[in-house]
Order: sequence, then C-alpha cells, then structure tokens
Amino acid sequence: MTDCQRVALSAAAEPSSLCVLGIETSCDETGVALYDSANGLLAHALHSQVETHALHGGVVPELASRDHVRRVLPLVRDVLARASMEKPDAVAYTAGPGLIGALLVGGSVARSLAFGWNVPAVGVHHLEGHLLAPMLENTPPAFPFVALLVSGGHTQLVDVEAVGQYRLLGESLDDAAGEAFDKTAKMLGLPYPGGPQLARLAEEGDPSRFRFPRPMTDRPGLDFSFSGLKTYALNTAMDVGEDRLDKADVARAFEEAAVDSLVIKSRRALHLTGRERLVVAGGVSANSRLRERLLRLAEEEGVAVFFPRTEFCTDNGAMIAYAGCQRLLAGQSDDLSIQARPRWPLSAL
Ligand code: KG4
Ligand code: ZN
Repeated sequence: MTDCQRVALSAAAEPSSLCVLGIETSCDETGVALYDSANGLLAHALHSQVETHALHGGVVPELASRDHVRRVLPLVRDVLARASMEKPDAVAYTAGPGLIGALLVGGSVARSLAFGWNVPAVGVHHLEGHLLAPMLENTPPAFPFVALLVSGGHTQLVDVEAVGQYRLLGESLDDAAGEAFDKTAKMLGLPYPGGPQLARLAEEGDPSRFRFPRPMTDRPGLDFSFSGLKTYALNTAMDVGEDRLDKADVARAFEEAAVDSLVIKSRRALHLTGRERLVVAGGVSANSRLRERLLRLAEEEGVAVFFPRTEFCTDNGAMIAYAGCQRLLAGQSDDLSIQARPRWPLSAL
C-alpha cells in the first residue's frame, strides 16, 4: 500500500465508516456489491452465467472469463449508481480459490479501479466470504462458531474463533458435496446446474424405496466422502430405467444420504468443540432438506444455527465486500500486485 492509500484508508475508516466495493468472479457468477461498515449492505448486483454454460453441461472456464469481462464494469456502475456514490473507500475482490482466468478478470478490474480512485484494494479468500455471509443478516452469529462450508468446490467443517482465525476440523477426501449433487444430477439426465434440479426432483421421490450408505460415518473423525455415493446412485439408476418417478426415488435416496452425512458430522463437530453456534454457508446451504435437518439438529443440541439468505448461499459480491471490509478494518491491504490463487487453503490465512 502506498502512503497515499494508507492516508485514504485511515481518513475513510476512522471518522465513521468504511464503504467497500466487493467484486466476485471466481467461477460462473459475476457479483458486485457495496458494503458500508456503518450502514450495512448498500447495493448488490449479480449476473449468473447459467445460460452460457448450460449449453455445454458444465462450466467452460474460457467462456466464464470472457463473460466476466463483459459484465463486471456495467455491474460496478450499476451498484455505484444505486447507492448514489462516485467512488468507494476501498475495493475487495476474490483472489482465490477459483478458475485462474476468471479470478484474473476480477482481480485486474478491482486493482485498476482502486489504483484509479487512489483507494486501497484487498484480495479476499472466496471461502472466507462464504463463511462470513451470514453476518449480512439481521441476526448475525457471534463468534466463536463451527462453520459447515458446503459449496461446489469444497466441503469443510471449520472452527471459527474470529475473523481470520480458522481451524480446519474436517473436509471431503474426494468430491465436494455440491460437486456430487451436480455429477449425480447429470447422470440422471438433469440439466446444468444440477444441484438445485436434483433437489427439486427429489421432492417427488419416495424416501423409503432405496437406502444409500452414509459414507465415513461409522468411523471417528470429521472428514467426508461423497464420490462413492455418486457411484451408488449411478448403479441404482441403471437398474431402475428411465421413468421420471424412478429417477426421483434415486435422487431422493442420494439427497437423504448426502444430507445425513453432513448432519452427522456437524453434530460431531459441535460435540468436539463445545461451540454453541453453527454457521452453514456455500451453495449447498440453499438446499431446503439440509436446512430443515440442521434446524432440527440445532433444536436437539440446544445450539443456534445461522444461514445466509438463499441468494447469498451461492456466489455473490456482498460476501466479498463484507469480508474485505473486515480485513481492511483490521489493518490489512495489499500492494499494487494482482492476487490470483487458483488453489489456496483457508488454513493459510
Ligand atoms: O458456493 P457456490 O455458488 O459455488 C462454489 O463456490 O462452488 O456453490 C455452487 C454449488 C453447486 O454445486 C450447486 O449445484 C450447489 O451449490 N447447489 C445446491 C443447491 N443450490 C446450489 N445443491 C443442492 N441443493 C440446492 N438447492
Ligand atoms: Zn462459492
């Protein structure tokens, strides 16, 4: 950070509040938002690339980068206009993990805007953004808490002491939960993005017809495994044929087993840490069966459970603006280089 930027940040931060523009471009959603430390979320906008990738049955990285190039500046203009603001006090962007091309688009635009405005910029860890997303709600969780992060790329249980203090308790040894939902959905012939489609089909399924195994629940520890479940679903689907209701039964059995594994390990993590709050975030936290089961778990265990609103479960700019704001308030900001880390463990923070 230059002296000018340091002055700009302290001038902005000390009197009353810090207003941060957040830019998310790690995968297939362009998200932009303005978060103000005193007044909360001022504006947010999102462009989903679902239609672009649906034609190909999954995310095509090069198409994702090109679409971010087209969308990001119009979205920035849009949120600034909605908040009647010319420039923010700082810019935060997703620095990783994610698709390298997509990250570079958001990082270059964010870093350049910050340079032009002469304000600080900070690269944010995508999972830290997800993990802090429930802080944007009216009743945010207090620290410390256990976080269940369930996205398309990660499934992790994390002990969260405070912003930036994360201890990994367990994670998936193979596919992430969202990835398993997506792959199983594809196998059942459902269009991309598969997770929500599978959840919808599972609603029509009979929960008593098939019982899938609950991987890794019969041994101690907090790690997950979802790839066997996917194979189990494939074999069952091949036996039942093409009928929609038969497929719905397979979808239901898969969802019950995946959700059950997440609930069993979350309960274990709460027992192990003694924490009284559970935070659930990432795309799969939009799943209604998971939400319902975790609410029941919280009641049984006498703990409180916190979710982001549905639109902030999946990728968005608001969580990046919020996480960036916390980092900047804690005194962090980056030099003039553009940060882009396709692989970046949360524990490295
Ligand atoms: O957090 P996210 O938007 O992107 C990543 O950081 O990966 O999560 C996307 C994942 C996808 O795998 C998607 O299928 C899954 O979240 N997902 C769901 C639901 N909504 C999104 N999975 C199950 N049920 C849902 N309702
Ligand atoms: Zn995500």
